[in-house]
Amino acid sequence: MRIGVLTGGGDVPGLNAAIRAVVRKALSYGYQVLAIRNGWEGLILGNVEPMTSRSVSGILPIGGTILGSSRTNPFKRDEDVEKSLKNISQFGLDAIVVIGGDDTLGVGAKFSERGVKIVGVPKTIDNDVYGTDYCIGFDTAVSFVAEALDRLHTTASSHHRVLTVEVMGRNAGWVAVVGGLAGGADYIMIPEVETSIDEACEHVRSRWARGKTFSIVVVSEGAQVREVMYSEEELGEKDEFGHVRLDRRGLAHTVATEIEKHTGFEARSVVLGHLQRGGSPTAFDRVLAARMGVFAVEMLNQGEAGNIAALQGNKIVPVPISEVLANTRPVDLELYEMARLFF
Ligand code: F6P
Repeated sequence: MRIGVLTGGGDVPGLNAAIRAVVRKALSYGYQVLAIRNGWEGLILGNVEPMTSRSVSGILPIGGTILGSSRTNPFKRDEDVEKSLKNISQFGLDAIVVIGGDDTLGVGAKFSERGVKIVGVPKTIDNDVYGTDYCIGFDTAVSFVAEALDRLHTTASSHHRVLTVEVMGRNAGWVAVVGGLAGGADYIMIPEVETSIDEACEHVRSRWARGKTFSIVVVSEGAQVREVMYSEEELGEKDEFGHVRLDRRGLAHTVATEIEKHTGFEARSVVLGHLQRGGSPTAFDRVLAARMGVFAVEMLNQGEAGNIAALQGNKIVPVPISEVLANTRPVDLELYEMARLFF
């Protein structure tokens, strides 16, 4: 069998660990592996080359992806679909392991409808892929958020300030809730539940009244904040999957300005941005990536396609890509409720 492997969408730590697992497992079966460079763009352009065990040597602890990534969507242009299908047959690809989030997997599903054997490995710091408890990269991202909050606590308390901290996550509050819980946030604003600057101010005031002269407010980039309206049109051009750039909202800055205005306490904002996607993967992400990568190839070896390798409890199980794409995975609201106990 000749297997193509690609990584698409935003990079995350742990992608290399997954690529290594795919290659090593495939080679162990005597299969060939071809690297498809820069996500689906590589398939359109025929930017494809053979991989050996040397190609993946030493990459386990390294963040990013040796394959490169992009947010290219071949289904935006008919000719790109044709070019991709032509390259699949020209390079003799029997199957493709698609390492990505919903967008990348969605393209995989469309190729699958055209007869291409696809298996998926879920990765995104947003952790919003349905069917799996964890996506590769999420644990590393929230570990970074927790460390950032620890660091911000000391400066916020020294200067008796409110610090608003903007985290990624798109329309899901996983990074904010889990990172905020781990880092002791005093208020967390997320996309799934309407929060308000008013309520944030109340928490800040009541902390001051209890002698806590600083506060850390975690703000998800896509948070629903009662007093802050925005239209997607204001945020500029969308990417090929129809997403706007939520960082353009500048939400943490707005929230800090408003809190300072309403409470009189000095406030600053911090945007963690792409730092959340950098660095070396945690042990958890490395092991998850290894398990999912190996499972993806095992599925192909058993002649199964059309599934992702998902973590459910402590087991890696197949979940149909169609089921993954038909559902969303908002943050666990019980966990958010629990986090509110510490506000
Ligand atoms: O989907 C991952 C993610 O990091 C989101 O949390 C964020 O909104 C987006 O990607 C940022 O994308 P880009 O790397 O294009 O700035």
